[in-house]
Amino acid sequence: MQEVINSQGNSSTMKILVCGGAGYIGSHMVRWLSEHGHEVVVLDNFSTGHRGAVQWGELLEADLMVPADLQPVFASRHFDAVMHFCARSLVGESVTDPYAYYANNVTGTLNLLEAMRRHGVELLVFSSTAAVFGQPQSELISEDHPKAPINPYGASKLMVERILADAGQAYGLRSVALRYFNAAGATLDARIGEAHACETHLIPNVLKSVLGTGGSLKVFGDDYATLDGTCVRDYVHVEDLAQAHLSALNYLKDNPGAHTFNLGNGQGFSVRQVIDAAARVTGRNVPFEVASRREGDPASLVASGRKARDTLGWTPIWTDLEAIIESAWRWHQSPAF
Ligand code: UFG
Repeated sequence: MQEVINSQGNSSTMKILVCGGAGYIGSHMVRWLSEHGHEVVVLDNFSTGHRGAVQWGELLEADLMVPADLQPVFASRHFDAVMHFCARSLVGESVTDPYAYYANNVTGTLNLLEAMRRHGVELLVFSSTAAVFGQPQSELISEDHPKAPINPYGASKLMVERILADAGQAYGLRSVALRYFNAAGATLDARIGEAHACETHLIPNVLKSVLGTGGSLKVFGDDYATLDGTCVRDYVHVEDLAQAHLSALNYLKDNPGAHTFNLGNGQGFSVRQVIDAAARVTGRNVPFEVASRREGDPASLVASGRKARDTLGWTPIWTDLEAIIESAWRWHQSPAF
């Protein structure tokens, strides 16, 4: 597809392969790209994704673990860029089943990178995570914070970041790794949202507790050295993440090499504060009980979003926690899948 550059220097139309486009963040990305005039092809193996989440673009069922699956995907189309969301992403599961994490997250990505190289696709935006940092050593985590992952999930993502740096040197691959802090929320019309078969994340579990569909909410530890003893996190709306991916892609046009950005609102909220905010948004009580700490949870994880703002011009719209929860609440009251 021929690339058209508009007056802001942005590509007005790109053909983009979204790997993992049936998942939570991937499906919001697909929608965002489609609504911003781009042509999207979704690749997913549906191990955790939902067919109902793919409402935009062309859908290909394929598995990054099967290199033969990728050949026809790339041979019959030219992509301007790839966005890569496929991954196993449960911290606890990565500790008990590390082979699955290294195989999927590292080998699967290598298969994708090799197919991109063979077919001359030079732009990649990769989903990374705050888990690459391990235990935080400062209140706000910037990109140069030491990387010392404490679980195989974070280690697998950091390995890919290193592979991308090497690929930039060796093959000229241009890449951005975006390290999400706590992705949350849903589109306002509730056509898509967060739906995990085994839900581990706080905001969905809080809302399920309100609805009585998820059992009683457990607060994992109230004896941390934080304002109220519960863990502090930086919640960032999934549409703001989508916006950052598109900005990252445009950035790559003029900036070769491998880049990393932390994506968060730069503001931390404790588990108790999230529960209180959810009670205000829903107008209902949030039943919960305090349980013991969950292994591997740092007390506080808050991003410095400064580099993404200064370099990518990323300006999150969803800076209000209650608004983020409200968007998730609309989805969870009647999830479409
Ligand atoms: N929590 C509860 N009860 C729940 C679920 C979560 O108390 O039912 C607490 C957790 O202990 C944690 C906070 O709420 O303190 C947030 O937990 P989430 O599971 O929603 O998110 P995490 O911070 O554990 O996970 C995020 C990303 C991961 C990433 C990790 C890095 O979702 O991809 O940060 O630590 F690996």
